[in-house]
Amino acid sequence: MPMIPNLKFHDGREMPQFGLGIWQVPADTTAEVVKDALDLGYRMIDGAAAYRNEEGLGTGIRQSGLDRDELFVTTKVWNHGKGYDETRQSVAESLSRTTLDRFDLILLHWPFQDTESYVAAWKGLIDAQAEGQVTSIGVSNFHEAHLDRLIQETGVIPVLNQIEVNPKLQQSEMRKVNAAREIVTQSWSPLGSGRSFDEEIVQQIAERVGKSAPQVILRWHIQLNNAVISRSENKQHLAANMDIFDFELSKSEMDAMSQLQTGERTGPDPETFDGK
Ligand SMILES: NC(=O)c1ccc[n+]([C@@H]2O[C@H](COP(=O)([O-])OP(=O)(O)OC[C@H]3O[C@@H](n4cnc5c(N)ncnc54)[C@H](OP(=O)(O)O)[C@@H]3O)[C@@H](O)[C@H]2O)c1
Repeated sequence: MPMIPNLKFHDGREMPQFGLGIWQVPADTTAEVVKDALDLGYRMIDGAAAYRNEEGLGTGIRQSGLDRDELFVTTKVWNHGKGYDETRQSVAESLSRTTLDRFDLILLHWPFQDTESYVAAWKGLIDAQAEGQVTSIGVSNFHEAHLDRLIQETGVIPVLNQIEVNPKLQQSEMRKVNAAREIVTQSWSPLGSGRSFDEEIVQQIAERVGKSAPQVILRWHIQLNNAVISRSENKQHLAANMDIFDFELSKSEMDAMSQLQTGERTGPDPETFDGK
C-alpha cells in the first residue's frame, strides 16, 4: 500500500496529500466507490452537499470498518444566496446524511460575486468549528480579494483553498497568493478532462518512469506541493492513481511541464460564476 504523505495546515492539523473526490459519482454507487477506495488505502475523501451523495459517503465509511480517526473527510457548503443560519443548517444536514459526528474539513464551495453572503457563511463555519462539528475550515474557488475580505472581516485564515488546477491551468499566481497566507492549495479536477494526456512531454515522462499519463500528471501536482483529489469509479484506476509515490519528475521535467500552461479552464471562472 503506497505511503501517502501528510500536508500541514497553519492551524496545526494535517491532511493526506492525496485522496478521492466524489463529484458526479452516482448516489447509488457512492458507498461502493468509497469502500473500494478505502480498501485500497485511500484515507482522504472530498465530498460536498451539492454532490447529493453524502448518504453513500457515510455508508462507504461505515462499511470499510476503519476507525473514524484514521480518515480525513471533507464536505462543502453550497452557499449561494445563503448566510450564517443556512450555513449552520447545511453543516448539520451534512453531518446527519453521513452520520458522522464531525468533519475534518468543511469548505465554502464558491464565493459567488452577487452576494455578501460568503462572509456570513464563513462566520457560520467559524462557529461550527468552535462547537466541534468540524476540525478545520477552508474555502474553494476563492481569489485573492475574496480571501483578504474573509481575513479582514473575521481574522480567521482558511487552512486550504481548493481550486481548479491541471497542466493547462497551472494557477501559479493563486498558488503564490495561497502560500503567502499559509493556505494549502488543493487541486480539483487534477486530470483536466484528459486534455494533457497526449502531450509529448507527458508521454516522454510516462515512458521514462514506466507509468501512465494520468499518474505522471497526478505526480506533477504532488511535486507542486498541492493537495490533490482525483475521482474514479474504476477500481484499477483508483489503484493506479494512488501509485504515484515511487517515482519523481526531474527539475527539467517540471520546467517542461510548466510550458503546457494555456489558461484553459474545464469549469467555471470564480469571477463570474453565479452558481447556476
Ligand atoms: N471545488 C470545486 O468547485 C470542485 C469542482 C470540481 C471537482 N471538485 C472535486 O475534485 C475532485 C476531482 O475532480 P474530478 O472529479 O473532475 O476528477 P479527475 O480525477 O480530474 O477526473 C475524473 C475523470 O478522469 C477519469 N480517470 C480517473 N483516473 C483515470 C485513469 N487512471 N485513467 C484514465 N482515466 C481516469 C475518470 O473516469 P473513470 O471513473 O472511468 O476512471 C473520470 O472521468 C471531484 O471529484 C471533486 O471532489 C471540486
